[in-house]
Amino acid sequence: MLLWIIKNQLFKVLVGQAEAQSFMPAQGSEIAKSVDSLYSFLLIVSLIACVIVIGGMIFFAIKYKRKSDNDKTAYISHDTRLEILWSVIPLVIFLFVFAWGWVIYHEMRTMPKDALEIQVMGQQWNWTAEYKNGVKSGEIVIPVNRDVKLILSSSDVIHSLYIPTFRIKQDAVPGRYTALSLKAEGTGEFHIFCTEFCGTSHSGMMTKLRVLSQADFDKWLAEEGDSASLPLAERGKKLFNIKCTACHYANEDKPKIGPSLQHLFGQENHPVESGVIKVVDENYIRESILYPQAQIAKGYGPRSAMTAFQGQLSEKEVTSLIEFIKTLK
Ligand code: CUA
Repeated sequence: MLLWIIKNQLFKVLVGQAEAQSFMPAQGSEIAKSVDSLYSFLLIVSLIACVIVIGGMIFFAIKYKRKSDNDKTAYISHDTRLEILWSVIPLVIFLFVFAWGWVIYHEMRTMPKDALEIQVMGQQWNWTAEYKNGVKSGEIVIPVNRDVKLILSSSDVIHSLYIPTFRIKQDAVPGRYTALSLKAEGTGEFHIFCTEFCGTSHSGMMTKLRVLSQADFDKWLAEEGDSASLPLAERGKKLFNIKCTACHYANEDKPKIGPSLQHLFGQENHPVESGVIKVVDENYIRESILYPQAQIAKGYGPRSAMTAFQGQLSEKEVTSLIEFIKTLK
């Protein structure tokens, strides 16, 4: 494995940014390539240093092994030239790496002007992207070859948005804004992970970055913008896909973090943790969304970590979710 990595990295450095197969994810932008070059350099320098230090130790241990009792060891205190050499060479390498890293970091953190701005809100346990025209999406959809600025925030705890293909990562902090910029070089779908432990379903807080051509992006944005005219249940389904899928199944009758919502609506003997039997009607669902701790479905007591959506969803959004849940037969 290690040899394979060395071979590929050496190959990449020697042959340039050829199509050498790498253990790193694909490179989605210029920044990703810069980061990888620095990383490869660090890896190779470390390997060379490792070989010199460990190899030197083994070599000298064998060469100067005491062979008989008459062997006298010469007394050597130090060698100034040698000490200067092994201090200055690493210092120069470190300063060089610092300067290289600073240039990349500066480029990464300088926000482009005239970028397409998208608000990205982290919440336990999903991401919501909101566009200037009010469109909300559970995936971050962007056009190719265009500067994009993601303005991050969180409505509860600290999350961190990580897009490996673009080698960018930024904390989303409640009560303040942080930002990330990217410019995708090709279309496609790329993973987005949350990389700050944020609770029970942290590992499920994943979504996609979808890079479309400018024409497809405009079309997508316009179509999504029309969703106000969709039937209530359809709107609820869209919202469900953004807000709820990390913890609830809609079309499979099995629990995820929370109970499945299939066959839920209309149940007349729905047991809750307090021992009471509830009827699942509009008001029960509404309460469960806005104040989840009020009635916890039986069996979900200790691990019920659902956050309250009170203040996060409009009345209309709550209604559309209820209408969608009604359709889950
Ligand atoms: Cu959000 Cu981890």
